[in-house]
Amino acid sequence: MITMYDDEMAVNRRWWDGATPVHYRSRSYNVDGFRQGGTSLLPLELGELGDVSGRRLLHLQCHFGLDTLSWARRGAEVTGVDFSPQAIATARRLAQELSIPARFIESNIYTLPEVHHERYDIVYTGYGALCWLPDLDRWAKVVARSLRPGGVFYVLDSHPIMDMIDYDVPDRVELKLRYFTDGEPEMEDSPNTYTDSDRPLEERVTYSWSHPLSEIVGSLLSAGLQLDFLHESELGYFNAHPLMRKRDDGHWTFPPGTCRLPLTFSLMAHLPDHDQTVSSSR
Ligand SMILES: C[S@@+](CC[C@H](N)C(=O)[O-])C[C@H]1O[C@@H](n2cnc3c(N)ncnc32)[C@H](O)[C@@H]1O
Repeated sequence: MITMYDDEMAVNRRWWDGATPVHYRSRSYNVDGFRQGGTSLLPLELGELGDVSGRRLLHLQCHFGLDTLSWARRGAEVTGVDFSPQAIATARRLAQELSIPARFIESNIYTLPEVHHERYDIVYTGYGALCWLPDLDRWAKVVARSLRPGGVFYVLDSHPIMDMIDYDVPDRVELKLRYFTDGEPEMEDSPNTYTDSDRPLEERVTYSWSHPLSEIVGSLLSAGLQLDFLHESELGYFNAHPLMRKRDDGHWTFPPGTCRLPLTFSLMAHLPDHDQTVSSSR
């Protein structure tokens, strides 16, 4: 299906292909720690999503699969989806090397329903995902179509307030007075990715979209999901600003006295099971 931003997404896909091997070798992703039995998941999502054992979990925008495989290590039956061939090939190699049962599908999120028709107990989306999606209404429909009735959707990602931080100001936290972007993408041209690597990337350009919280929640409600909770947290997941500090539990946060902004939002919603509703109201 052709959309308004197919060209921008094609540019992004090339960027993710180039970034994948750099991320794979980076300290921040710590693949060696994962090989030794570690998890890439942080306390926030582990606490909020809870026990996944024996449940069929679909991970949208899985990158090279560390989070997907971490859920598998906690007993979920996992399938990861990503549009980067490099990311999917790396995820499959890692799963095979570590003998972790997992399935990985190469697909744009928007075209997933054309190639994959299964329904899941849990659909999961982790940090750093929504900013790559131009159209949340279409995304939410894909989420709803991927859930079995009664199934649960859980997402946690950067809070849109984080898109307002002026990252050119390193010694204090300053906000650009721009929360609403009317769906316009932001083009970035940079030789670096967000990990600690000093290896410059060949593909430098990306397009990203900032989504207000109301757009994220509204798109899911319009697709027929029912909200279970929406949380805002001061815990972040990467070193976004020089003032941020890493806590012992892996989360990044601003030290006391610097600023008190939400860095992450997390949301749980479910697809109503109408049979259940009818029988319980009888
Ligand atoms: C930052 S990663 C998020 C995964 C995970 N939290 C992590 O840090 O490894 C973002 C992923 O989204 C994928 N992506 C971006 N746009 C996509 C799209 N339209 N369809 C499928 N995958 C997409 C990229 O290839 C990348 O692997």
